[in-house]
Amino acid sequence: MCRPDHFAVRYSINVWMDPDQPVDRDLALAQWETLRATYERLGHRVHLLHPLTGLPDMVFAANGAFVVGDHALGARFRERVRADEAPAHRAWLEGVGIGVHEPSAVNEGEGDFAWAGGRILAGAGFRSDPAAHDELAAVFDAPVVPLELVDPRFYHLDTALAVLDRDTIAYYPPAFAPASRDLLARMYPEAIVATEADALVLGLNAVSDGRHVVLAAQAVELAVAVARAGFEPIPVDVCELLKAGGGVKCATLELHHPNTAEEQP
Ligand code: ARG
Repeated sequence: MCRPDHFAVRYSINVWMDPDQPVDRDLALAQWETLRATYERLGHRVHLLHPLTGLPDMVFAANGAFVVGDHALGARFRERVRADEAPAHRAWLEGVGIGVHEPSAVNEGEGDFAWAGGRILAGAGFRSDPAAHDELAAVFDAPVVPLELVDPRFYHLDTALAVLDRDTIAYYPPAFAPASRDLLARMYPEAIVATEADALVLGLNAVSDGRHVVLAAQAVELAVAVARAGFEPIPVDVCELLKAGGGVKCATLELHHPNTAEEQP
């Protein structure tokens, strides 16, 4: 995770971002601290990336890489304004002994890629380039399931789909192109289907450790569905981050273990 010390909405690179709308950085910091404390209370270890001035979106650590075991695919941001985040992630990961593969196609890390127990669900349409999917398959030696995003409000895969455990996902079907929708319905017949209201508070931008599902406090019906499916919903309010189009998951880059669907944030 990366503290939102420099969090702001100064440019607009997704439809959620309005530089004219004020952002309360102190509130963002307090909400972020609660999220971090929540992970620690649940028994997870949180590593911190040093926040850099001039990078107001750096709090969205999920975009910095995709990591499974001791391999990572580094990010290559679509927008110049976020480009300098990638080397910061690379340096941190290399510092803890994780090998970072240099990407050639645009990819925004775990924003578009989800580790789903041995396979990788990979979004494209707004940010990551479909060519990044081949790089993923090569680096992780895992099957990659390409999914096409079609609604600009759900511009990263992690805004429209959450992996809860190796067999369970929650998602918002209208965010996907018809062929991707059909594919997901076939792969995950028991999936939790989110309401539009819950998708619009980025309720699907959630982090699951296979047991607890940390999600936006505003996603009330989703929390009920998650509980009904046997998980424990853990609501956290990160409404200030929503002004930049981010939420719980965006603020969290997970270090996945190769043998599980979920691992410690
Ligand atoms: N303002 C950021 C951007 O548009 C938000 C990133 C959200 N991250 C995510 N994993 N969905 O790039």
